[in-house]
Amino acid sequence: MTGVSVSLRINGAAVTAHVAPDLTLADFLRGDQGLKGTHIGCEEGVCGSCTVLADGETLRSCLTLAAQMDGADIATVEGFDDPAGDRLRKAFAENFAAQCGFCTAGMMAVAREFLADATVADHRNEAAIRSRLNAVVCRCTGYQAIVAAVRAAVPE
Ligand code: FES
Ligand code: FES
Repeated sequence: MTGVSVSLRINGAAVTAHVAPDLTLADFLRGDQGLKGTHIGCEEGVCGSCTVLADGETLRSCLTLAAQMDGADIATVEGFDDPAGDRLRKAFAENFAAQCGFCTAGMMAVAREFLADATVADHRNEAAIRSRLNAVVCRCTGYQAIVAAVRAAVPE
């Protein structure tokens, strides 16, 4: 059988799979794993809608092969169910930070990485938030509501 065996963690669960060498991580997550919260837009690394976390760092899943993920710890929006994820979800809802929602999973992945980044001096700093959110394109919100949501998700 052609293909590659991978063992990884997805949203805290151990997963072993046999994948085609050219299968992208985005298609693996959405198709094989049924995790449709990760969206695919441009498929060329520009829009950021496919962004997930791999070992805590953001990753364009459309540009990454599933076969490269052996040993990785992947978190998708479906797995953002810890206190930090709850805070972020509540902040997005209260600040109307999602309209069509296409970019939201990617935005939340970027926001989680940002909020967990101990090298950031001030997580409420608007310029710092905007600089990080540049990684994901939103065609609906004008970004202000998303910036407000990230600020609101900073723990007291
Ligand atoms: S779908 Fe991956 S960056 Fe656009
Ligand atoms: S909410 Fe529609 S693209 Fe961001």
